Amino acid sequence: MTASKHFIIAIDGGSGTGKSTTAKIIAKQLGITYLDTGAMYRAVTFAALEKGLPAEEGPAMDALLQELKLTFDAENHILINGVSHEQEIRGMRVSNNVSIYCALPSVRAAMTKMQREIGAVSSCILDGRDIGTVVFPNAEYKFFMVTDVAVRAERRLKELLEKGEQVTYEEVLANLTERDRLDSSRANAPLKKADDAIEIDTTHISIQQQVQKILDYVGVVA
Ligand code: DC
Repeated sequence: MTASKHFIIAIDGGSGTGKSTTAKIIAKQLGITYLDTGAMYRAVTFAALEKGLPAEEGPAMDALLQELKLTFDAENHILINGVSHEQEIRGMRVSNNVSIYCALPSVRAAMTKMQREIGAVSSCILDGRDIGTVVFPNAEYKFFMVTDVAVRAERRLKELLEKGEQVTYEEVLANLTERDRLDSSRANAPLKKADDAIEIDTTHISIQQQVQKILDYVGVVA
């Protein structure tokens, strides 16, 4: 692989498998764009909840999607109409609702379009649920991360407590389990390993080891 070649790295998997931390480090090392597609679905959910919009198709949802300007700042935080709502989009209110809003076909179509537009102009590493199956089925590199759910809940709980969120292990475990159930069972772009994705079990390995495994497959950029 050469630095000038355009390529896409897709990392899919359930919540809390270490996808985004891994993807961020790899993006930096390879000098490519990192796209946190979960943040995009979280942003739509936050905006809809703020407006009191139910998770339903219709003119109100269409208008919201039309008006919503999603961009990223230098730290890769998503900006909703120019403003970061990082704390809110990562909190339990959004986590408990995102799987319902993100299943709406209009929401998926709008986010998939944005993701493809960003990936078309620069080499990208994207993490999500449907990147290797739907958004970029021809991605050069595809990975699917799996992790024991108890380990994922521990990791997520630690992150949330560090951010000052009042939450228990049981709540986090229930949220991860329910989100994975909804994300895997929806009709439109479900969480699913692409047939040609490489599976990485991250239960017993560190972030650095996850990064190295992916870099070994991708090869060194000249
Ligand atoms: O990666 P995350 O946990 O921040 O993602 C939040 C939710 O967004 C997740 O429960 C499912 C949804 N999502 C999706 O449906 N498709 C993606 N490509 C990324 C996330």
